[in-house]
Amino acid sequence: MTDWDDAVAQMRVCRRCPLAGSRRHVVVYRGGSRPSVLFVGEAPGKSEDETGLPFVGRAGKILDRAIAELGLREEDWGVTNEFMCRPPGNVYDRHAASACRPWLDLKIRLLGPRLLVPLGAHPLRALLPGTGPILTVAGTLHASERGPVFPLLHPAATVRRIAYAERWNHDVAQLRELLPRFLRGEH
Ligand code: URA
Repeated sequence: MTDWDDAVAQMRVCRRCPLAGSRRHVVVYRGGSRPSVLFVGEAPGKSEDETGLPFVGRAGKILDRAIAELGLREEDWGVTNEFMCRPPGNVYDRHAASACRPWLDLKIRLLGPRLLVPLGAHPLRALLPGTGPILTVAGTLHASERGPVFPLLHPAATVRRIAYAERWNHDVAQLRELLPRFLRGEH
């Protein structure tokens, strides 16, 4: 068993916070085993809770389209969330966030991405604490103790406002410009 398999086995039986009581599945990760780029969303929704896979609902389709536009190969990307269990009513739960944080850190350490892409305000705060609001920092590159971070809006925001969809397209295009150097490991 690899360290990753061992960690996933532990995550699947996690009961560190009350969300364990209402989940159907622990939603760990989808993507390559050594991704260069790791997208980090907020929390599983209904489709993710049912399937056990992150970003397989409507927001996932938007993210998958962006990943295709970025020209990433299957093994070059991965997607996970700040929370691994579905929060009832989609309410952000600080206690669950701190209970889940060591798992997020472990996933990042074991996967070893060259670039982290937080999707939206909460994952941004988890990966770049103390930084400015998402609308200020999305589409720009930042250094962090976990390595380079390039925040994007949450893909679900793009269906709420035309301006967010335009911003998403713009920022994804910026990321596409930057990506080759991360894929070559030259950052
Ligand atoms: N939104 C998220 O932040 N994560 C998912 O997995 C699905 C929707």
